[in-house]
Amino acid sequence: MSIKIISAQEAASHVKHDFNVAFSGFTPAGSPKVVAGAIAEIAKAEHAKGNPFKVGVLTGASTGDTLDGVLTRAEAVKFRTPYQSNKDLRNSMNTGKIHYFDRHLSSLPQDMRYGFFGDIDVAVIEAADVTDEGEILLTSAVGIAPTAASLAKKIIIERNSSHPKEIRGLHDLLELQDPPYRKDVGICCPEERIGEPVLKVDPAKIIGIVETTSNDEIGGFTPVDETTAKIGDNVANFLAEQLKKGLIPKEFLPIQSGVGNVANAVLGSLGANPDIPPFKMYTEVIQDAVIDLMKAGHCTFVSGCSMTVTPEVLRGIYSDLDFFKPRMVLRPQEISNNPEIVRRLGLITINTALEADIFGNVNSTHVLGTKMMNGIGGSGDFTRNAYLSIFTCPSVAKGGKISPFVPMVSHQDHSEHSVDILITEQGVADLRGKSPIQRAETIIENCVHPDYKQMLRDYLALNDKGLHTPHTLGVVFNMHEEFLKSGDMRNTKWER
Ligand code: COA
Repeated sequence: MSIKIISAQEAASHVKHDFNVAFSGFTPAGSPKVVAGAIAEIAKAEHAKGNPFKVGVLTGASTGDTLDGVLTRAEAVKFRTPYQSNKDLRNSMNTGKIHYFDRHLSSLPQDMRYGFFGDIDVAVIEAADVTDEGEILLTSAVGIAPTAASLAKKIIIERNSSHPKEIRGLHDLLELQDPPYRKDVGICCPEERIGEPVLKVDPAKIIGIVETTSNDEIGGFTPVDETTAKIGDNVANFLAEQLKKGLIPKEFLPIQSGVGNVANAVLGSLGANPDIPPFKMYTEVIQDAVIDLMKAGHCTFVSGCSMTVTPEVLRGIYSDLDFFKPRMVLRPQEISNNPEIVRRLGLITINTALEADIFGNVNSTHVLGTKMMNGIGGSGDFTRNAYLSIFTCPSVAKGGKISPFVPMVSHQDHSEHSVDILITEQGVADLRGKSPIQRAETIIENCVHPDYKQMLRDYLALNDKGLHTPHTLGVVFNMHEEFLKSGDMRNTKWER
C-alpha cells in the first residue's frame, strides 16, 4: 500500500482539541512548515464558532514562525515545551496566555517516553524522503523526531523537496532504552556512530504526506562588533594559554558552543587564533560560523543536532556533500546533549549568560527574574558535565543601564558548582578552586564594567562578618529594583 499525498488541511483535520502534538526539527532547521498553519486555521474556525481548540506543542527546541508564531497568534497552544525564541510566543508566555515549561533538551525525549506529559497523539515530521515501508529520511535537524515518531499514535510527514535524498548518511538515529534497562551510550569520540541513517516507523501510523518546498526560516547574525569580537578574542586567548600550561590536553578537547551573536563571534575568534589547534565539536546547534571553520580546516569534525545555517550556507553544504558527509553527523537531542557523553568526551563548553552574580551563579533565561527570554536549551546539559565550562556575556546591556553582574542572580539556571570561567570584553574570571569571596573579587576586578565595579565592591563590603557567602539579604536585589524604578542600575544605593 502506498502512502497517500494529502493537503495540509486534510492532515490537520486529524488533530483534535486537547491533543498533544510533537514536531520534528531543532531551531527552525527541520521544523515542519505548513501543517501547523493548517492547525491554526482550524483553531481560528473553531474559536469563531465558540468552541475550544488548543493543543499541547512539543518540539526539539525553537522553531520557525510558521509553527510557533502561527499557532500562538491563533491562540491554539495549550502548553509549550521546551526552548523557544518566537516573539509572539514569548509575549504570550509572559502575559499568562500560554503555559510554558522549560526542560533540559537532553531530558525531553525520555520524559515523553516516561509518560510525564500524557500521550503523544500526533507527530509531524519533516522528511527529505519517506518509503512505503515507513523509512523516514530526516532533513536539516533531528531534535525529538525519533521519540515523537515512535510514541505518536499517528504521523504526518511533510516531505520537503528542498533537501536532497543524497543527505542519507548524515543522520545517526536511535532512541535510548529507559531505566532500568539503559546501557552505556557507546560514543567515545565525536565521530562515532551508533544508530541508523533513517527513522523506521510502522507505515500504518502514517496518515499521509504533505508536500512542501519551503526553506528553513533562519536569518543571519548581527555582524561581529567591537564588544563581541573582544569577548571572542578573550575566550580564544584564554584557551590557548590553558593549552600552553598543560591544563587542556595537547590533543585539545571537543568544543560545544551555544547559540546567539556572542557564540558566533567566539567561534570566529577560535578559528583565527594560531595557537588553537584544529579541533572537533560535539555540540547542539551547527551555526554558519562552524561551516566556515570546517572549510578553513580549523574544525575537523562536528557532531550536532541541527544545521541551523542560513539557506545559502545550507545550499553550499548540499552542493559539497562529498566534503561534509564524512565530517558531520546529526543526532537526536538525547544523544547530542547527553550528559554521559559530555562528561566522557571532556567538552569545553561555551555558552552565553543573561546575568551572573558575583559568586558565579548564572541566569540564562529570565529577564529581571520574571520574564522568560528563550529557555535553558542545552546549556544545562553541557555546563554541568563539562571538562571546562565557560560563560560569556557583554559587561553591560541596554547601553550601560543594566549590569549583567549583580549580587544575586534573579533566577538561577547554573549554580556556582558548575560554572568554571566567566568572560566579558573586560577580561576573564577563572573561578576554579576559589572560595565565594575570592570568586567575587575575581569577577568584579576582571569581568565587571568600570561603571559598576565600585558598586559591587561596596556590596561585598556591606557584610564583614566573615560569612562563607557574605550576602546582605535586605538589599540583595537593589540593582534590579533600581532598574525597575529609574530604568538605570547605575543609580543603585545599598540602602533598604
Ligand atoms: N537583563 C535584562 N536584559 C538583558 C540582560 C540582563 N541582565 N542581559 C542582556 N539583556 C538583553 C540584551 O540587551 C538583549 O536585548 P535586546 O535584543 O532588546 O537588545 C537581549 O537580552 C539578548 O541579548 P543578545 O545580545 O541578543 O544575546 P545573544 O543573542 O547572545 O543571546 C541569550 C543571549 C542568553 C538570550 C541566549 O544565548 C540564550 O537564550 N541562552 C540560553 C540557552 C542556551 O544557552 N543555549 C545554548 C546551549 S547549546
